Amino acid sequence: MDVFYSLTAWNCFQFTGVFRRLMKLLVLLSFVLDVADGQVRYSIPEEMNKGSVVGNIVQDLGLDVIRLKSGRARIFTEDSREYIGLNVDKGTLEVRERIDREELCAQVTPCSLHFQIILENPMELHRINVEIFDINDHAPVFDRKEINLEIMEYAVTGSRFSLGSAHDPDVGHNTLQRYTLNPTDHFTLNELSRSDGTKFVEMVLQTPLDRELQEEHKLILTAFDGGTPSKSGTVKITVVVIDANDNPPVFSQPVYRVSLPENAHKGSTVVTVSATDKDKGAFGEVTYSFSQNTGKAMDYFTIDSDTGNIRVNGLLDYEKSKQYELYIEAMDKERLTDSSKVLIEITDVNDNAPVISVISFSNPIPEDSAPETVIAMLNVKDIDSGKNGQIRCSVNSDLPFRIKSSSSNFYSLVTDQFLDREKCSEYNITIRATDEGSPSFSTNKTLNLKISDVNDNAPVFQLQSYTAYVLENNTPGVSIFAVTAADEDSGNNARISYFLEDVLVNGVSASTYISVNAESGEIIAVRSFDYEQSKEFHIRVKAQDGGNPPLSGNVSVKIVIQDQNDNAPQVLYPVQTGGSLVAEIVPRSAEVGYLVTKVVAVDVDSGQNAWLSYKLQKATDRALFEVGLQNGEIRTVRQVTDKDAVKQKLTVVVEDNGQPSRSATVNINLAVADSFPEMLSEFTDFTHDKDYNDNLTFYLVLALAVVSFLFIVSIIAILSVKCYRWRRERMFYKSGANLPVIPYYPPLYADVGGTGTLQHVYNYEVCRTTDSRKSDLKHARPSSESIISLNTTGTHTLRLAQREKLSHDYEDQIDATVLKRNIY
Ligand SMILES: *[C@@H]1O[C@H](CO)[C@@H](O)[C@H](O)[C@H]1NC(C)=O
Ligand SMILES: *[C@@H]1O[C@H](CO)[C@@H](O)[C@H](O)[C@H]1NC(C)=O
Repeated sequence: MDVFYSLTAWNCFQFTGVFRRLMKLLVLLSFVLDVADGQVRYSIPEEMNKGSVVGNIVQDLGLDVIRLKSGRARIFTEDSREYIGLNVDKGTLEVRERIDREELCAQVTPCSLHFQIILENPMELHRINVEIFDINDHAPVFDRKEINLEIMEYAVTGSRFSLGSAHDPDVGHNTLQRYTLNPTDHFTLNELSRSDGTKFVEMVLQTPLDRELQEEHKLILTAFDGGTPSKSGTVKITVVVIDANDNPPVFSQPVYRVSLPENAHKGSTVVTVSATDKDKGAFGEVTYSFSQNTGKAMDYFTIDSDTGNIRVNGLLDYEKSKQYELYIEAMDKERLTDSSKVLIEITDVNDNAPVISVISFSNPIPEDSAPETVIAMLNVKDIDSGKNGQIRCSVNSDLPFRIKSSSSNFYSLVTDQFLDREKCSEYNITIRATDEGSPSFSTNKTLNLKISDVNDNAPVFQLQSYTAYVLENNTPGVSIFAVTAADEDSGNNARISYFLEDVLVNGVSASTYISVNAESGEIIAVRSFDYEQSKEFHIRVKAQDGGNPPLSGNVSVKIVIQDQNDNAPQVLYPVQTGGSLVAEIVPRSAEVGYLVTKVVAVDVDSGQNAWLSYKLQKATDRALFEVGLQNGEIRTVRQVTDKDAVKQKLTVVVEDNGQPSRSATVNINLAVADSFPEMLSEFTDFTHDKDYNDNLTFYLVLALAVVSFLFIVSIIAILSVKCYRWRRERMFYKSGANLPVIPYYPPLYADVGGTGTLQHVYNYEVCRTTDSRKSDLKHARPSSESIISLNTTGTHTLRLAQREKLSHDYEDQIDATVLKRNIY
């Protein structure tokens, strides 16, 4: 009935229930077969419910229920445990306690319960065997709930890891049969049996583990028994892959490129490199360092071994190195490394000023250098690059110089104009080199250029012309004047020598009047001048410098000779003779103011020195005559009377106006008579007074001669005076001068032999020796003049040379003693 029921409502669970009941039924049927010799065998599954019937004992032993009761049937066991009881009322054996085969027998098979049924009255003993057969009531069970395995990452394939075993207390098919492992990508199972037959498993690594791919593997190991249905037990396996240092660090970039200005401060960060290591923990710790082939660059940078921070550690200089290559290394604990490179481009900063170096410098340069003359060659450098190294060069614009660029970095300093040392004799030329950087740097260099003199300036006298005054009667050798010329050049080009130019003065060489001191420009009178002979003359003085070729200038000097009162008046009329018998006749009938005569005198001096005045010094009768102060006219003051003596004598003094004045006196005899004979008679008395005994005839002849002479002289005198007045009027009219110009009678010019320049005293003296020799010496003069030297020592030398020349030439002509005296 139950079978049908089960078929109609088919499902797995219900099928199991039905199947168990069928089994029980088959077991009950089988019990009967074993009844023999009062021994009954039953076979039941374990774990039957309490009260379940094991077997019908009444039937199987051929008893009845009454007998059982009367016989007080009971069960006897050797151990007092009663799993199975006897139901006397029904005559059946029933399960009294849970029967667990595994508890009773463990692994022993077959497992049976043995007991006896004892009956009394009569005593009967029936042996009962109840075999307990296994049912699959246990699933396999692992010892551990979970298995945690730590496996090194580098474990080789084939490595085995014991997983232990599972236990199933059931026996036979119901016990543990097989294992499975899931998943199986890395591991397979290996089942092994121990000598006691127990099975255990181990896990075998099939493919390598990689922590970096999967750090943890979760597996499930399942154990199955062979029951029907079979039971299983599982255990979780956790495999933790233990990191092996199987990964080197790896830099984030194969090359790091950085650019850095050259003025980066010490300590500033350049770049931070980083390397990653996939390994864990200590294996993933990376340290950084420079590798050895970084070389010198290591001095300039540091690397932080922990952070990979690269910093500047020195003074960078673009000009020394434009690029640094740092080879860096990252290393983990196991000394696995990676390397990379840091390329540091240094960028230029304008940190260098231009440098000016003078390659050549022509100093001084002559003032006549043409424009574009190269003065200096310069090399200007700026070690910065690009704009920072581009240079502009200049000089002060107010100077006559220019900078010319010859080729890159080379410059020449040239003149821009004509130079003039006399305007500016030196220049401070400041050359300025500026670079184009921002901010820009500049350098100055000052060259002190001297301009050397060229003889381009002639000596120039201070005045266009000079006038020098000299008093006549000067001593020879006196210095009259000094001319000075200036020369703007310098040194020898400005060393001036003065020369007298050989012009003719009054028909003779000027050197006979004047000499010029070559060094001082002093004009020296060579001879004594006479105003009365020459009032003035012109000379030319030349000033010559010491340049090569020399330049010269000349000036005209007017020498004015000033008058001295060196001439006394000269009485021209009346003519004075020794005896002075000349007499003027004054008629007795002469009126007051009658012009008796006129004293005529001249003075060859001029001006005041020739300004004559006339005075009556002595007179026989002072009341009768007077002399005109200015004109020398002798006139009567009163009427002549008979009482007046015939013989009258006057002394007139003629005085000039010089300082001191000079004078001359003249005696004038007057005869107050009406006739010549009367006069004569009177004058005979004169002679009588003196020498009455002299021959009268002689006097008469003499008187006649005197009268005739006087006549002639009077005419001459009158003519002279007339002529003088006429000339004087004319000259006043012409010159308008204040001073009266007194005529003089130019005497013949007498050459006294004054020669040459006065510095040659010896010559001068030699000239003075004898008249016969002076002409020879005059010929020698030009040679001595032409070799005037420029300095005193030279002068001495030349003088000595001169002396020697002189002594050779004139040795035999000039008295040796005189020459020696003059030379030494
Ligand atoms: C040039 O410089 C020097 C020295 O600095 C100075 O003595 C001189 O006077 C200067 N010359 C000119 C022309 O400026
Ligand atoms: C004197 O100087 C003038 C210019 O001042 C010149 O013309 C003349 O030739 C010079 N005379 C001599 C003789 O050197």
